[in-house]
Amino acid sequence: MTSAPASRNLARARRSTGAPPQLVLDGVAKRFRRPDGTLITALDGVSLGVRDREFVALIGPSGCGKTTILRIANGLLRPDSGSVLLSNAPPEPGPGAGFVFQSFRLIPWATVRRNVEFALQELPLSRKERAERALHYIGLVGLSRFAESYPGQLSGGMSQRVALARALAVEPQILLMDEPFASLDAQTRELMQMELMSVWERQKAMVLFVTHSVDEAITLADKIVLMGSGQVLETIDVELERPRWTSALRSDRRFVELRDHLWHRIRELVLSDPQSDFYGRDLA
Ligand SMILES: Nc1ncnc2c1ncn2[C@@H]1O[C@H](COP(=O)(O)OP(=O)(O)O)[C@@H](O)[C@H]1O
Ligand SMILES: [Mg+2]
Repeated sequence: MTSAPASRNLARARRSTGAPPQLVLDGVAKRFRRPDGTLITALDGVSLGVRDREFVALIGPSGCGKTTILRIANGLLRPDSGSVLLSNAPPEPGPGAGFVFQSFRLIPWATVRRNVEFALQELPLSRKERAERALHYIGLVGLSRFAESYPGQLSGGMSQRVALARALAVEPQILLMDEPFASLDAQTRELMQMELMSVWERQKAMVLFVTHSVDEAITLADKIVLMGSGQVLETIDVELERPRWTSALRSDRRFVELRDHLWHRIRELVLSDPQSDFYGRDLA
């Protein structure tokens, strides 16, 4: 039979013609076993998509499954049922996705440049190309002067910029960000949001960005996915012009209404969750 190789060739041809990258989760369920043996449903029929060049924010109370979605999108976890496709193929852990965590996870004994270069080791690059690529992305996040510094010599904001440069340097199809700015002070956080937007406007990678902050989600995202108890509760297209950190836009009726709406829903979810510290509280 010749049909199998022919269809494989076709699949390969499709990949090489570069169909627009996209992430599609369809009916994804995931359960975990707790140490005491009980099963916990982390995701229950989650469907969501990230289109080419789209910035999607995931928001919802602690434990609702946000990190699990990122790990599934990265191929670190397989769904129990349902499907996940990144550019038409199941995602594989590796350079296809750039992961940025709340904790920066930098190597303390390596310089900024070496930290970024380490992420490039799996790519088919010469030593010179690796160094050039690392310096390019370090420059993109505004840290050229600190390329030979060590993580211990950097502030929190600068460390997170190194983590961002490291994730971008692999030129991933998708950037997965798990509460990346949560440990930064409010001012640094806003500056990092601006930094991320300026990089994203130039690179336009797909981004899946987990945050607890309603304002951060509205400021950054094209689309906000609200989650609760392992399910997608609501998907909202944010049709506000950019940039969104101007005081005019933040006091715009649409911004204020969207913030009120999301706050209201998240508060309801937290107050009705028996696992939450605020369960059943009357916070009028
Ligand atoms: N490896 C694991 N083993 C057991 N339970 C897990 C594991 N990973 C996540 N969970 C549980 O799955 C649920 C969803 O977790 P997670 O995706 O981390 O939520 P979020 O990021 O929204 O806070 C939580 O109840 C969490 O305790
Ligand atoms: Mg999480």
